[in-house]
Amino acid sequence: MSADARRLALLGGEPLFAATLHVGRPNIGDRTRLLQRFNDMLDRRWLSNNGPFVQEFERAIEKYLGVRHAICVCNATIGLEIAIRAADLKGEVIVPAYTFVATAHALQWQEITPVFADMDPATHNLDPARVERHITPRTTAILGTHVWGRPCAVEPLQEIAKRRGLKLMFDAAHAFGCSDGARMVGGFGLAEVFSFHATKFLNSFEGGAITTNDDALAHRIRLMTNFGFAGFDNVIHIGTNGKMTEASALMGLTSLEGIDHLISVNRANYGVYRENLAGIPGLSLISYDPAVLNNYQYVVVEVDDSVTPLNRDELVSVLHAENVLARKYFWPGVHRMEPYRSLFPHAGLLLPDTQRIAPRVIVLPTGTGVNGEDIARVCGCIRLALENATEVRQKLASTRPA
Ligand SMILES: Cc1ncc(COP(=O)(O)O)c(C=O)c1O
Repeated sequence: MSADARRLALLGGEPLFAATLHVGRPNIGDRTRLLQRFNDMLDRRWLSNNGPFVQEFERAIEKYLGVRHAICVCNATIGLEIAIRAADLKGEVIVPAYTFVATAHALQWQEITPVFADMDPATHNLDPARVERHITPRTTAILGTHVWGRPCAVEPLQEIAKRRGLKLMFDAAHAFGCSDGARMVGGFGLAEVFSFHATKFLNSFEGGAITTNDDALAHRIRLMTNFGFAGFDNVIHIGTNGKMTEASALMGLTSLEGIDHLISVNRANYGVYRENLAGIPGLSLISYDPAVLNNYQYVVVEVDDSVTPLNRDELVSVLHAENVLARKYFWPGVHRMEPYRSLFPHAGLLLPDTQRIAPRVIVLPTGTGVNGEDIARVCGCIRLALENATEVRQKLASTRPA
């Protein structure tokens, strides 16, 4: 049924989708290759501890990104913790408030204070001018996030870091396959950390990689990822267990072989969203610069409810009723999550753009689990909801707990 010939599920109609359409539904690479590698792993009985698939995945990442070192880890959160510790960050580190909570947790976990800086509303990334305002004598570093895979303002941040004697590092969890100009994300700052979590465009079930061009830092990171072992029985450094398993590495490796396909599916899906959401007043789909590389993994819509008859939360409720699990990333902003909300109750005063944009963002499903027809139906449902806004509002008000 076409979306506009139907009644919204919220208003009593049948849901658009029988099976839930998730944001971040995992991409699965070539199944034959995957199972072949799985069998190889089982035959070898080498499941962890820097196995051949981890080594192969690391070399493949280094080649793809053009970096000297890639160190695979069990997830990006541990990767951030290790990179932060290996680079000796301490005191205060400036981070975006508009990021996944792990960026700040990786610091706070190590008793380093995250100091939240505001975004540039045009890019959702750290605004370098605002970063500068937060520098104090305790500041040791800037940790930027390439939000949605769109690269941070790398050069201005580099310039500030250099001039103010700070270290620079990036949370590149979203940004595998993305570039800033001709340079791939992966080689900026002291180190960058990617996530290969199942929801990421390239996944290894769970996993991540720390990339760096600094040989000494890479050496420390390797040691720290494996308890500080430098050979059997020889522990020469403080460390943790951040190792990636062979099962994760073979999944990541197989995903990486299919990366061009994954990007082309995401790019095509993004195009269908653009076409189908065009001309709706108050809705804007974030754009990706066609002159640089993007992975198009995030279909992000800003809802300006001074223009639209429904706000972001109301639209999300409509979509959830249709079994479209749209998400509100990264609402309400890390500064409003614990422990930061209690530690820094007034942080929001210096984050006007994060406070303004975070309640507007909807992330919509994409990836190989979603096709153009699905997307047209999701967009049709958004239009239908806006056309029936009065009824939707009344229904939501009547179901809201008193
Ligand atoms: C910006 C950002 N940083 C860090 C992470 C943490 O990644 P992982 O789940 O691999 O620990 C995520 C995951 O969603 C993220 O979006």
